[in-house]
Amino acid sequence: IFGYLNYLVKRDRRFIADILINGLHRLEYRGYDSSGIAFDGELDLTSSDGKRRQCVVVRQKGKVEELEIQLATLKDMNWNAEFTVHVGIAHTRWATHGEPSAVNSHPQRSDEHNQFVCVHNGIITNYKDIKQFLIKKGYQFESETDTEVVVKLAKYLYDKHKDENLSFQKLIELTCSQLEGAFALLFKSVHYPGELCGTRRGSPMVIGVKCADQLATNHIPVMFSKASIESQVNYHSGKDVRMTTTLNTHLSDSIPTNLRGVFSPPLLITDHTTSDLSVTGNDRSIEYYFASDASAIIEHTNQVIFMEDDDLACVSNGALTIHRTQHGDVTQSAIREIHELKLELQQIMKGSYQYFMQKEIFEQPESVVNTMRGRVCFDTQKILLGGIKDYLSEIRRCRRLILIGCGTSYHSAVATRQLLEELSELPVMVELASDFLDRSTPVFRDDVCIFISQSGETADTILALRYCKQRGALILGITNTVGSSISRESHCGVHINAGPEIVLSEDSLSKEQRRREIIQALQELPNLLKRVLSCDKMIQDYAKSLYKETSLLVMGRGFNFATCLEGALKVKELTYMHSEGILAGELKHGPLAMVDDTMPIVMIIMDDPVKTKCMNAYNQVLARGGQPMLICNENDDELIKMAHRHIAMPRTVDCLQGILCVVPMQLLSFHIAVLRGYDVDCPRNLAKSVTVS
Ligand code: F6R
Repeated sequence: IFGYLNYLVKRDRRFIADILINGLHRLEYRGYDSSGIAFDGELDLTSSDGKRRQCVVVRQKGKVEELEIQLATLKDMNWNAEFTVHVGIAHTRWATHGEPSAVNSHPQRSDEHNQFVCVHNGIITNYKDIKQFLIKKGYQFESETDTEVVVKLAKYLYDKHKDENLSFQKLIELTCSQLEGAFALLFKSVHYPGELCGTRRGSPMVIGVKCADQLATNHIPVMFSKASIESQVNYHSGKDVRMTTTLNTHLSDSIPTNLRGVFSPPLLITDHTTSDLSVTGNDRSIEYYFASDASAIIEHTNQVIFMEDDDLACVSNGALTIHRTQHGDVTQSAIREIHELKLELQQIMKGSYQYFMQKEIFEQPESVVNTMRGRVCFDTQKILLGGIKDYLSEIRRCRRLILIGCGTSYHSAVATRQLLEELSELPVMVELASDFLDRSTPVFRDDVCIFISQSGETADTILALRYCKQRGALILGITNTVGSSISRESHCGVHINAGPEIVLSEDSLSKEQRRREIIQALQELPNLLKRVLSCDKMIQDYAKSLYKETSLLVMGRGFNFATCLEGALKVKELTYMHSEGILAGELKHGPLAMVDDTMPIVMIIMDDPVKTKCMNAYNQVLARGGQPMLICNENDDELIKMAHRHIAMPRTVDCLQGILCVVPMQLLSFHIAVLRGYDVDCPRNLAKSVTVS
């Protein structure tokens, strides 16, 4: 989410559009599949006073550059038109409800005249009820998003309360009081020109304030008001809607007494902690930036306010008011301080972490939630992958599944193979793209070829894709990058490795128990990841004992063979130390010769069907004097007692255990690399996307 409002600062439309687009570029790193912006158009001569402006909405699937191209094609747009007050909102979307498309992109709109527009981050869980209610009231929906109900509800309430002349703030509070779920929302309306409202519950939002007079920003602002809204809406029964609204605005008790009354809205007042209070009046030129994180704001101003859940921030007549909504937690402090960010853009994006890699490791509990959002429904125990649903019958009928990728993406294919075989009962081949091409592997029309690529631009993977496409196979892409070559050249796909395996067996009753077990485990995964991450210190200590070594062997089998391959790859690429992922079953066929009492070894032994076989390998290693560090399940007391050193993993279903077990390996390589003095964010000889074959 990004929003921009200028007040008494002359800005032309080009400048405003550029600010919005630039804000979106700054948020690109969060991942997205489409984007859009809304800004003021020409005067609407049909409005009652002829002074109202139209609202222009431009939305586009794909990268922000695609949106820029779309903007450039707008006819009759006067880019030099100047505004002294203007509101623009912008959004990059990662599809949850509804496929990536222009109409599902944000800003979502209330009607064809764009009377209300809004951008949203999060999920509205009761959107179906609200949608049904609005449909009964005659509203027509154009998108599949949950967000569209929010903006249409705002319009419905606006029309319903027209005689009461509700302020924008009151209207938005009323609207949001009906929402359940998690959200950050920004609203703009032709009925409230020059005003912007933003609120959050569960999703982040930060406000940047830029005053022409920098001194004044040191004494900015926050005023709080509380309103109580009593509302009762019954969407379910089909009965008449009753909505009683009592709006009762009063100042929070926590505002110092000497300030009360001084700042009837819309004035800005100083942070209460500053003794030298000053009030900024309405005639001060000022610019506001609203965003999902400070990285989109820092280049404009370092003065920011972090909103809390159930804060409703509104700018009207140039003044910002932050208002606690009725829904809010009453114990939450009503003071929001202006923070002066001393960080550079790069540092902001790193948050409190020293390295991006560290941030990414520690963000895994959230990233698995993002991957599953809108796809795994824990209530109904269903998986929906919109990007492949139309091809499922073809996939089910195929001769074999071929998973193709490079590096880590190949390892994710190895990690998935066993479950795919089990659930689909199809032959599954896993291939390194380069080797697959070198062998001119036979491919048939009834093969389904699945290309896995984080970047979607890896040259070897693209070449293999074209090779299979030419031979008539169905091409399914699993990538993390919308608009990438692999996602464009695939017939169907998933924009992130969410695992189509469960869908493939959906109609098989015999697999139902297994499916349920996995879906339930997926729900618990974020919390289990958090627990694994808490072993960071222990791993750092292990890294201290290891970082001067020249080699590290990582052994395991079954679902964790892929974990060993990936763990060893991470060690190699970050620490430049020799490392090998070894299939424990292959140990006696050669690799055992490397084992002695000086060789550092990590062994992954989970309490799963291959445990006994792993124990055999463990004993062989012990017999050669090896002293492996074990990654094992917590409560496996027998094994823990034998272990020279161990890291205990929470238990999950066997096929997901690798998602937990790979984390200690990520942390281990990270700490070894830092101890060796290497920059983990720029490993030598590696490009972010390998675009050469
Ligand atoms: C390892 C790594 C590489 C990539 C490989 C494929 O950390 O980043 O091994 O996994 O180059 O890249 P994608 O997934 O973008 O096709």
